[in-house]
Amino acid sequence: MTTASWNSRHETGIDVIDAQHKALFAALNQLTEAFRNGTSAEHVNAGLDALLTYAAEHFQTEERYMRERAYPGLAEHMAEHGRLVGKAHHLEQQFQEGRPVAMELTIFLADLLAQHIEEYDMAMARFLREEPPTVTVERL
Ligand SMILES: [Fe+2]
Repeated sequence: MTTASWNSRHETGIDVIDAQHKALFAALNQLTEAFRNGTSAEHVNAGLDALLTYAAEHFQTEERYMRERAYPGLAEHMAEHGRLVGKAHHLEQQFQEGRPVAMELTIFLADLLAQHIEEYDMAMARFLREEPPTVTVERL
């Protein structure tokens, strides 16, 4: 059972970004499963680390695309990324302190991710699609 999954509402039309969004949802769902199944703290920590690493890489990709194109919404979008990362770190910290964060916060993060994509990323994608990125992930 998943709490959130990628669907066509999240499709930006920019392949690299869509692939990364799918990977983020998959990582979140894996983490939710780990919590749900009462997996070891070590396992959950590994899931959280993976999620934060994916998110950081993904945000760097988006920010690079926006910077390259002088996207007018860059600063606002970067601030939003900062808020998302802050929430994720907060979750990690609470978990490490032994608090019962699990399910509620992963659901919250999944919702937040979906909302971010539907609002911020769609606006960015409309702008970027006019001139699709030419850089590849390997060069980022
Ligand atoms: Fe974004």
